[in-house]
Amino acid sequence: MALPPAFLDELRVRTPLAPLIGRRTRLVRNGRQWKGCCPFHNEKTPSFYVYDDHFHCFGCGAHGDAITFLMRAEGAAFPEAVERLAAEAGMEVPKATPQQAAREARVRDLTGVLALAEAAFRRRLFLPEGKPALDYLRRRGLSDETITRFGLGWSGEGRGALAADLKAEGVEVAQLVEAGLMKPRDPDAPGGAAVDLYFNRVMFPIRDRRGRVISFGGRILGDGQPKYVNGPETALFRKRQSLYGQDLAREGAFRGGTVVVVEGYMDVIALHQAGFAGAVAPLGTALTAEQLEALWQLSPEPVLCFDGDAAGARAAARAAEIALPMLSPERSLKLATLPGGEDPDTLVVKGGPAAFQGVLDAARPLGAALYDLVAEGVPARATPEQRTALRHRLTNAAALIPDKALAAEYRRVLLDRFYQAGRLPPREASGARGAARGGQRQGAPLRLVRRAVDAAWQREERARNLIAILLRHPMLLGEVEEAFMALDLPEGSCAVLRDAMIAWLGMADPLDSQGLLAQLNQCGLEDSVRWATRRDGLCDAALPDAQPMEALDGFWHFFGLLRGEAELIADRAEALRMLAETNDPQVQQRLIRLSEALAMFRAGGSGDDGSDAGHAP
Ligand code: UTP
Ligand code: MN
Repeated sequence: MALPPAFLDELRVRTPLAPLIGRRTRLVRNGRQWKGCCPFHNEKTPSFYVYDDHFHCFGCGAHGDAITFLMRAEGAAFPEAVERLAAEAGMEVPKATPQQAAREARVRDLTGVLALAEAAFRRRLFLPEGKPALDYLRRRGLSDETITRFGLGWSGEGRGALAADLKAEGVEVAQLVEAGLMKPRDPDAPGGAAVDLYFNRVMFPIRDRRGRVISFGGRILGDGQPKYVNGPETALFRKRQSLYGQDLAREGAFRGGTVVVVEGYMDVIALHQAGFAGAVAPLGTALTAEQLEALWQLSPEPVLCFDGDAAGARAAARAAEIALPMLSPERSLKLATLPGGEDPDTLVVKGGPAAFQGVLDAARPLGAALYDLVAEGVPARATPEQRTALRHRLTNAAALIPDKALAAEYRRVLLDRFYQAGRLPPREASGARGAARGGQRQGAPLRLVRRAVDAAWQREERARNLIAILLRHPMLLGEVEEAFMALDLPEGSCAVLRDAMIAWLGMADPLDSQGLLAQLNQCGLEDSVRWATRRDGLCDAALPDAQPMEALDGFWHFFGLLRGEAELIADRAEALRMLAETNDPQVQQRLIRLSEALAMFRAGGSGDDGSDAGHAP
C-alpha cells in the first residue's frame, strides 16, 4: 500500500538524521552539517556528510534520507524502515482499508490509467457525440465487431474531456501526463498546468504483446494535419520496441497466420478484418532492430510489405540492411511489394482478401530480393566502375550476415545474379524474349530435347567463360593452375586452349594477356581464341578491364559450376589437409573458394532446368 506523502514528510521532519546515523558512524560537526567516515564503504579520511534532511558520501556516492539510510544500513524493506522510524518518533503508520489500497494501486498503476482511458474513449464513441467518428469508421469498411476488437474510441470534442472522465475514477492529471495522455502546457514546468494530447480524434489503443494498452494513436476525421497524433515515450511505451497489433498477431501466428508487417494502423485493422490475423505495423517509423526481434518471436520468416514506388524500395533496402546482421538459418524475411498507389487497406477494400493474398504469394525471400535492392539504380549497361561498385555492395551486404555458411550462401546467390546480369546481351534484357521462350516451352517433348541440348551448350558456355577469364587475366594462372588442370573440360577448343595455356605458363614472364595471345596465335589457335573471347554471352569478369578480384571470383564461380560435387568435396578435403600442414594463407583462400563453390553447386548451380540457359551458362 502506498503511504500518503504528507505522513512520510512528517516522519522525516520528526527524525533528526545525525543521531540516527551517529549510531553507526562517528560524526563530528562541520559548520552547519556533520561529517564522518562513510558507513557504506571503507575509508580512512571522512567524506560522508550529514545534512538536516539527507546524507551524501562524496567517496562512494551513497545518498538518501532517514528511510533510505535504515534500508541500506540495516537491510530493512521500505515498510519495515517506516514502521521502525515511526515507532521511534511516536507516530502511527496510517492503515488503509483493503478497498482503498486496491483502488490506490490501480490508479497509480500506469497500465490501469491507460485501461481506464481506453474504456472512456470507447464509451464516447458510442455516445451521440461519437456518432461522426463511428460513421467515419463504418464508412471505411470496419464492422462493429472489428471496432470493438481493436478497442477503437473517440477522444471527445474539446479539451479536458478525458481528465473529467477519469477524475471520477480518482485519476490525477499528473498521472495522465505520466501515461502520455496529456502534456504539460509549459514543457519547462512539468508540474504545472497540462493540456490534452488528443481531442477530436478517433482513438487507436496500442497494446503490448500481452494485450495491455501502452499508448494511443489518434486520427483526425477526414483530412487535416497532423493526420495521426501518437503517444510520447513513457515508462510503458517504447515506440522502437512496440508493434501495432502485436497481441492479436501473436494469436494469429499461433493459429498459422502469416506474420506480415504493413505501414499503418488502418492497414493492420483492415487486414485482420479480411482474415490476415498476423498483420502488424511499426508505429509511424521505419522498422527497427528491436521490432525485428519481436517479429522473429512470432515467426521465423515474417513478410515485410512495402509500397511499389521508389520510396518503398528505399524502405525495403533500409529494412534489409538492419536485418542482415541479425539473420541466421532460423531467422529470415520475405519482402512483398504492393501494387502502385495502394496500401493494404485500400487493396482489401477494393479487391477483397484475394487481392492481398496475391501480394503475399508473390513475396520473395530476402536472399532472392536482395540483389534488386542493392542494384537499384544501376543501369542495365553499367560501366566497369559501376559494376565494380555494385559488386562491392553485393559482397559487403552478404558479409553483414554473422553466420558464415549463410553469408557464403548469400554471397553466392548475389554474385550469381551479378554475373548473370553482366552476361545479358542488351537485346535479351527486354521482356519480349522471355515471353517467346515461355511459349516455346509449353510443348513437353520439345522441352525435353531442348533440355539435353541446353545442358551441353550450357556446359560449353561455362567453360568458355572460364577460359576467357584466364585469357584476359593470365596472372591468375599461378594461383588457380591446379584447379584449372583438374577440371573436366569439354573436348575441342576448350581443352586445347587449356593445354596451350599451361604450356605457356611454364615459360612466360610476365604473365600478361598480350604475351599469351601472341603465343596462342603462334600455335595456330587464333580461331579458338576468337571463339572463346566472343563478347556475346561472356561475363564481365572475362573482359580485359575487369578488376583482378572480379576476375578471380569469376574463375571460381565457373569452376564451381563445372566441377562435379564429388570432386569438389575431394578438392576441399585435400585443401583442408594442406592447410593443416602448411598453414598457408593461399591454401586457406582456396579452401574458402572451394567451400563456396560446393555450396553453390549444392544450391542448384548444376541442376538448372535449362529455363534460363540463355543467360546463365
Ligand atoms: P499512412 O498515411 O499510410 O496512414 O501512414 P494509414 O495508416 O494508411 O491511415 P489512413 O488510411 O489514412 O487512415 C502510415 C502510418 O504512419 C503513421 C501512422 O502510424 C500511420 O498508420 N503516421 C502517419 C503518423 O504517425 N502520423 C501521421 O501524421 C501520418
Ligand atoms: Mn491508408
